[in-house]
Amino acid sequence: MSKIKLFEPYKIKNVELKNRIVMAPMCMYSCHDEDGKVNDWHLTHYTSRAVGQVGLIILEATSVTPQGRISPQDLGIWDDDHVEGLAKLVNLMKSHGSAAGIQLGHAGRKAVIDGEIIAPSAIPFNDEMKTPKEMTKEEINETITAFQKGAERAKKAGFDIIELHGAHGYLINQFLSPLTNKRNDEYGGSAENRYRFLQEIIDAVKEVWDGPLFVRVSARDYHPDGLDAENYVQMAKTMKDQGVDLIDVSTGAVVPARIPVFPGYQVKPAEMIKHGADIPTGAVGLITSAIQAEEILQNDRSDLIFLARELLRDPYWPRTAAKELGADITPPKQYERGWI
Ligand SMILES: Cc1cc2nc3c(=O)[nH]c(=O)nc-3n(C[C@H](O)[C@H](O)[C@H](O)COP(=O)(O)O)c2cc1C
Repeated sequence: MSKIKLFEPYKIKNVELKNRIVMAPMCMYSCHDEDGKVNDWHLTHYTSRAVGQVGLIILEATSVTPQGRISPQDLGIWDDDHVEGLAKLVNLMKSHGSAAGIQLGHAGRKAVIDGEIIAPSAIPFNDEMKTPKEMTKEEINETITAFQKGAERAKKAGFDIIELHGAHGYLINQFLSPLTNKRNDEYGGSAENRYRFLQEIIDAVKEVWDGPLFVRVSARDYHPDGLDAENYVQMAKTMKDQGVDLIDVSTGAVVPARIPVFPGYQVKPAEMIKHGADIPTGAVGLITSAIQAEEILQNDRSDLIFLARELLRDPYWPRTAAKELGADITPPKQYERGWI
């Protein structure tokens, strides 16, 4: 019988994951003081998945500016004061053997906050949401610097991996898609110009961060005039040249659209990008069973398996998966008597 891949370690640069199971970023909207700081909820929630033997835990979209929050309750990394709480959380996750990642984000026109919001073009997401202000070049540069500062703070907090949130219709995605970017300057128009904002963020982050860098993309806009996986294969080639280590492949949410959802519905674009750009990928989206995860890995369709909602239901999913596949995984010492 061939080796079970889901529980094979995976090395990226200096970081070794003990298995291929990744907790996908999930906003908890739990900073009730609206200060972006880690609190008891975050310490409990993320540490539980580390106890559950998840290989890599990626923290929820963490905003690089107050204006870039999806909600006032988002985690933040725009201030040096955020580092202490994040470092405490990183230590807890690592002490249980998980690698620690953080998703750096900016909501752009999808920010639901008081005051002005910004985007590449002054087009609202829908009738209920605010119309954003078109970003000036100065604001573009300030935002790139905010991503760089966020990466510096993530490094100080001890994170192993940084993921840039380029998906789900948030700011970076708004620059990439022709549906949301109608600019006439060097940040809009051609594919090369629409990629420039992300390109400059990657370069800025890499000046201060030499650890593994992931980018999450929405590889399908689900719109006839939008982007599709083939466009992202091209972008992924450039990302690879820039030193990005893995593309976390999601889809949708840049404009309101109907998304056909079924088990593994985003695996195909993850496979296309992996082989088309020759870069490691993570597959995500309605992956719920171990046999499904194992199929994706054994057929070389992605390198890592990202789980979101299944890990909300079952923080010990790695144990569930090991049982399903007949694999042995080491429990936390304290749980040995109950792990069988
Ligand atoms: C509660 C919740 C919060 C989420 N927040 C984020 C987020 O902060 N960043 C992100 O890229 N995706 C976010 N997502 C999307 C998930 O990471 C994942 O891509 C999606 O849920 C599909 O995977 P699943 O079928 O395993 O849940 C969120 C999903 C849920 C359910």
